[in-house]
Amino acid sequence: MDNDFPTIKTDRLLLREITDVDLENIFNGLSNPNVVQYYGISFSSLDATKEQMIWFADEKQMWWAICSLDNQTFYGAGGLNSISHKERKAEIGLWLLPKFWGKGIMKEVLPLISDYGFDQLKLNRIEGFVDTENVNCKNAMSKLDFQHEKTMKDCEIKNGKPISVDVYAKTI
Ligand SMILES: CC(C)(COP(=O)(O)OP(=O)(O)OC[C@H]1O[C@@H](n2cnc3c(N)ncnc32)[C@H](O)[C@@H]1OP(=O)(O)O)[C@@H](O)C(=O)NCCC(=O)NCCS
Repeated sequence: MDNDFPTIKTDRLLLREITDVDLENIFNGLSNPNVVQYYGISFSSLDATKEQMIWFADEKQMWWAICSLDNQTFYGAGGLNSISHKERKAEIGLWLLPKFWGKGIMKEVLPLISDYGFDQLKLNRIEGFVDTENVNCKNAMSKLDFQHEKTMKDCEIKNGKPISVDVYAKTI
């Protein structure tokens, strides 16, 4: 637990530090086929998910648990990773449990995360790498002022098949 980890609140949401008590929450998300469909990682056991908790704790990442304002309900997680203070850039990511999709949570949270990156971490550039098939995410990125920069065709292998990735970025 890092007492200095920033907490962000809106009228309905609480963005708080991810701690060890979230192991099951993270497993529920990153073992759900609908959540990880376009995602680069997935976990099949609570034990395997501990690797992700170590990743969250690394200083190159700044990820929040996205919860109801009263912290009673866990909706998902979002944040900045591969933070480079030298290059003043980071990658942004977000996932929600399916029952909380379509409620405008991404639209509300992504600007909070990118604003934190620009204002507090003094970044110049925040980028998002989105599987070309992930239409929901691409629609959302465009609506949130992330510029589509390019499509990297067949740039990764996922489940034995090549996938293409769209690069979105926001700069100040
Ligand atoms: C991608 C994801 C985060 C969207 O979150 P969300 O809170 O449901 O998105 P929002 O409700 O804020 O919707 C934002 C925009 O996304 C698009 N969108 C979201 N759900 C959609 C749906 N079911 N059908 C079509 N477009 C959709 C729309 O453009 C929407 O804007 P609008 O409401 O003005 O039409 C969610 O589907 C998810 O967790 N997916 C699995 C993880 C993942 O793929 N993450 C990649 C990072 S984006």
